[in-house]
Amino acid sequence: MNSRFEIVVSDAAQRTQVFVGEGICPADLAGLPQASTVLPLVDAGVPSAHAVRTAALLSALGQRVLPPLALPLGEAAKSLDGFAALAEAALNSGIDRDTRVVVVGGGATLDCGQFLAAVLLRGLDCCVVPTTLLAQVDAGVGGKCGLDAGPRKNQIGVIRQPIALLLDTGFLSTLPRGEVLSGLAEMAKVALLAGGALHEAMHAHARSGAALPSNALLATCVEYKVRVVERDPFERGERILLNAGHTVGHALEAASLEAGVVLPHGLCVALGLRAEARHFAEQGAAAVEALLDALGLPRRVPQGLDLERAVSFIVADKKRRGAQMRVPVIDAPGQVRVMECAVNDCVNALRTLAAD
Ligand SMILES: NC(=O)c1ccc[n+]([C@@H]2O[C@H](COP(=O)([O-])OP(=O)(O)OC[C@H]3O[C@@H](n4cnc5c(N)ncnc54)[C@H](O)[C@@H]3O)[C@@H](O)[C@H]2O)c1
Ligand SMILES: [Zn+2]
Repeated sequence: MNSRFEIVVSDAAQRTQVFVGEGICPADLAGLPQASTVLPLVDAGVPSAHAVRTAALLSALGQRVLPPLALPLGEAAKSLDGFAALAEAALNSGIDRDTRVVVVGGGATLDCGQFLAAVLLRGLDCCVVPTTLLAQVDAGVGGKCGLDAGPRKNQIGVIRQPIALLLDTGFLSTLPRGEVLSGLAEMAKVALLAGGALHEAMHAHARSGAALPSNALLATCVEYKVRVVERDPFERGERILLNAGHTVGHALEAASLEAGVVLPHGLCVALGLRAEARHFAEQGAAAVEALLDALGLPRRVPQGLDLERAVSFIVADKKRRGAQMRVPVIDAPGQVRVMECAVNDCVNALRTLAAD
């Protein structure tokens, strides 16, 4: 299935064309004006099996494709030091004000690459080609981008929409199971926020035993997020709901990065959704946990990850922001609210994971 829709970011009159389907062909891109030059920023971990797919996309997006700049695998792509070297390489690559930056890769590459496009020569047009499930349903959608400051995630960044978001599901064939699960966790979050037919469809996917979600299900989840971003691009209201599971999830992710324990972003979010629902949900966590269990998402933190280190990240986060914590709570599928709470409540939510 190839579908195509458009994000209109209301207060900036910015338009993003979004394509979803297997194998995006040049005809799909006919609505985009061709750039004179294209600067590819490519995740070094995208398997070479996708080289032809990537090359075809790049040459459809501009007349002359500059030599690609490779970004290191995973979170290393978001380091401040690495960014300085990347920016210098980009400035020496032959770009000008009309160059289109095309970022190809997982969420970490997209976060760094979109940020570079946003600040290079005070902002170049950017096309985003996410290659992991998590990046296709979440990280690549919505324009948030930036870098980490040590273990503190996403502390330097902007929100800037790309001109095109190209979701070629052909990239997903090479993903290891853990990365698929990570993407399914963000899809589960969206399904729990939306409730109704989307929640049902996620359960149906779990029952089907298929390794990957259908393109239709993927497109529905993307469209849900696109519409929220359209209404609230700068997270002044409704968009905060998309952070469900992330208060606890980000603390786990910071602790896992510090300890060198591999725990992909989506799995941190799955644990965060469980913890926050267990502690805060008015109707109990049963429906949230039932969907996460059906999808085979983890119930416990991996060995080597110290929950008390994660607690200290929540406390430090609170100190830095100085305000009450605002946590989106999913009471039941389709029923969500933002709750103001004390830092201790979030700590207690996190500690519910010790019981499992
Ligand atoms: N900006 C946002 O709105 C947003 C939202 C969610 C997450 N994020 C960020 O996204 C990052 C996580 O993204 P991710 O889950 O994509 O992880 P990732 O970017 O670390 O990629 C995971 C691994 O998969 C490899 N890979 C990429 N494409 C592949 C393919 N087609 N086949 C096989 N392997 C492939 C990568 O090289 C990497 O080793 C985190 O930094 C997180 O903070 C950002
Ligand atoms: Zn997330």
